Amino acid sequence: MSAMDGFEKEGPVIGVFDSGFGGLTVLKALLKRLPGAQFSFLGDTARLPYGSKSRRTIARYAAESAQFLVKECGAEFLVIACNTASALALDAIQKAVSVPVLGVIEPGAAAAARASASKDVLVIATEATVASHAYAAACRARGLRAVEKACPLLVPLVEEGWVDHPVTAEVVRIYLRELLQEARRDGYFPDTLMLGCTHYPLIRGVLERVIAELASPLKVGVIDSAEAVAEEVAELVAPPAGTARSRPEIRCFATDSVEKFERLGSRFLGLPVGKVELVDLGG
Ligand code: DGL
Repeated sequence: MSAMDGFEKEGPVIGVFDSGFGGLTVLKALLKRLPGAQFSFLGDTARLPYGSKSRRTIARYAAESAQFLVKECGAEFLVIACNTASALALDAIQKAVSVPVLGVIEPGAAAAARASASKDVLVIATEATVASHAYAAACRARGLRAVEKACPLLVPLVEEGWVDHPVTAEVVRIYLRELLQEARRDGYFPDTLMLGCTHYPLIRGVLERVIAELASPLKVGVIDSAEAVAEEVAELVAPPAGTARSRPEIRCFATDSVEKFERLGSRFLGLPVGKVELVDLGG
């Protein structure tokens, strides 16, 4: 019997969790695949960033957030739209709730394996994700070699809304130049750049421009896990034909800065996020 058996005809309520706004890139991909589903999104904005914290703290924050989505929002399926929580806290989340949980690392690594011909992949992510080497391990399991780099300045720039800004472009240039130098020094021939943080698709244009300039004449394709995750979720939870709503139902929650969430969230999602509800998950 599958873990998804027994869901109601309209399909489950899908809980989507991130430490901030970045996970809205995953929600956007989910909306494309499941346009009639019911979503509850939680951004743990009061405790962001997760990427500079310890495994213990990340696990506690992520487990509390997952429990909120299941207990208070009735989520029957959880998507951890946060690479840091997926890399360091998937076990803790699975222990904390009794619904199926999908993280972004495995689908992301699978997408990298499909995209890379040279089998050498660059991964950029938060400090905690890189220190966990979750991507390197998931890539290795698929016959890929990964060179990882922590890019801690990128999340604050995205959260500030500086998605198309000269400062962001310069910071990206410094990180990617160092990463390419390290890869070349170690004899790697990367042809794929994996965005190992759900905030990075929001600066995808800058990342694509800069990697093309630095890697030229070689080509490096940019991939993120959002599409791969959405595809996997759609296969698992697609409502039976003819039973879905004609449009999605989305509820958004944040643990702080609801006005900023409403403003930036609508921009990132490409749809009005509506009224964002404030929740208190403690410190
Ligand atoms: N959402 C996190 C991730 O995808 C980045 C933001 C943070 O550090 O909390 O890794």
